[in-house]
Amino acid sequence: MDIRPTTDQELDVFVDTLHTAFGRFPEAAAEDGGGVWWAALENDRNLIAVTADGRPVGTAGAYSFELTLPGGAVTPVAGVSGVGVLPSHRRQGVLSAMMRRQLADVRTRGEYLSVLLASEAPIYGRFGYGPATYTRRLTVTRSQAAFAAPRARGAAADADAGSGSSSGSVEVLRSADCGDILEEVYDRYRRAQPGALSRPHRWWERRAGQPPISPAPRYVAVHRDADGVPDGYASYTLGESDTLKVDETIAADDAVFTALARFLLGHDLVSQVVFRHFPPEHPLRWQLTDFRAGQVDKDTDWLWVRLLDVPRALTARGWFVDGELVLDVDDPFLGEHGRHLLTVRDGKAECVPTDREPDLSLDVRDLGSVYLGGTAPSALARAGHIRAHRPGAAALADALFGAERTPHCLHWF
Ligand SMILES: CC(C)(COP(=O)(O)OP(=O)(O)OC[C@H]1O[C@@H](n2cnc3c(N)ncnc32)[C@H](O)[C@@H]1OP(=O)(O)O)[C@@H](O)C(=O)NCCC(=O)NCCS
Repeated sequence: MDIRPTTDQELDVFVDTLHTAFGRFPEAAAEDGGGVWWAALENDRNLIAVTADGRPVGTAGAYSFELTLPGGAVTPVAGVSGVGVLPSHRRQGVLSAMMRRQLADVRTRGEYLSVLLASEAPIYGRFGYGPATYTRRLTVTRSQAAFAAPRARGAAADADAGSGSSSGSVEVLRSADCGDILEEVYDRYRRAQPGALSRPHRWWERRAGQPPISPAPRYVAVHRDADGVPDGYASYTLGESDTLKVDETIAADDAVFTALARFLLGHDLVSQVVFRHFPPEHPLRWQLTDFRAGQVDKDTDWLWVRLLDVPRALTARGWFVDGELVLDVDDPFLGEHGRHLLTVRDGKAECVPTDREPDLSLDVRDLGSVYLGGTAPSALARAGHIRAHRPGAAALADALFGAERTPHCLHWF
């Protein structure tokens, strides 16, 4: 078995092998080659596994994304995707060999984080990935969706923040007519949102991915601020059973999100509004007079994170509470182990090797889960995955690893 990068001529081989692994037939591409999910693949990052007699049996690709870390730092990451092994060659170690090669390549590029979306949760933990952001769907019954008057004293004067009666405007466009607006608004949003990924220009240009990037017809409610500058959008379609389905709501701040939610919930001839990728801990349900007007389901993991350089990753993110922890980190897949003294002062961390007794012992996959602040270390300690060596260590880790805002990612890749 040989694991090697594809050549420029082998994009079709990569795409065909992957479709066979998933048991799907490829959709037709647009005449310019765009409009399909694989239009944005980066050929120099695609690996194929080839048998001794030259047959391709496995694929693993990666995109070059930027990830926003707690505190606002933006760092290059590998966005692993296009992973598949032919049904005839499974459980023979093909994926394991591709993952080993890919992680080595990622390190060679100087990236210290790798991220992915998992088709099935049991696949990637063994390779050092842990779920780090979560997503869910919110369905709001429109007849119950009246907005409450904000109760905070002085809120009437500060109505933009509380009630979402922003001083901006909403215009409805077709996604095909939005020009660069969506790309620009998304880019501004993702830089301020921990856990968010960039959507490189080639994705928009080649219409790769899911709506509103793809050519699937969508309406887009574009929000503009008082000066007419676009600062949010919601991509949606009105489907069966008078259900308005929202692909994504992208907003520069809470007031813009609320203004878009008001617009969507005010749409005539709609019985319910379904928000895909509703951000965890978003206050919308509190803003309605009837908390039960909104029901959550499809509550699941989204972005998985893998650290490839623990000190570099820990010093790159921002921190919000001072403190000190000794972390004993095992990386069984790569056969590595390190004991690190993490010291946080004034928002910055130092991370150095130490012989001190550990506060916490953990697998690198669990460090991936807590890294963006979306998973409490104490939850993994209670689950029996992180070992706390002294009372209070897990609680201190909860406080230290917390982010300024719950991490969230809604990019599909
Ligand atoms: C997931 C997939 C790529 C695994 O490839 P593979 O070559 O069979 O994986 P490996 O043989 O290297 O498996 C390594 C280990 O992971 C386990 N494993 C692999 N896939 C698994 C799955 N889907 N569920 C549970 N365990 C899995 C294997 O049992 C093996 O365990 P072991 O080391 O204890 O024996 C392959 O099953 C596939 O193509 N599935 C359909 C497409 C897909 O889901 N791709 C992932 C997209 S995110």
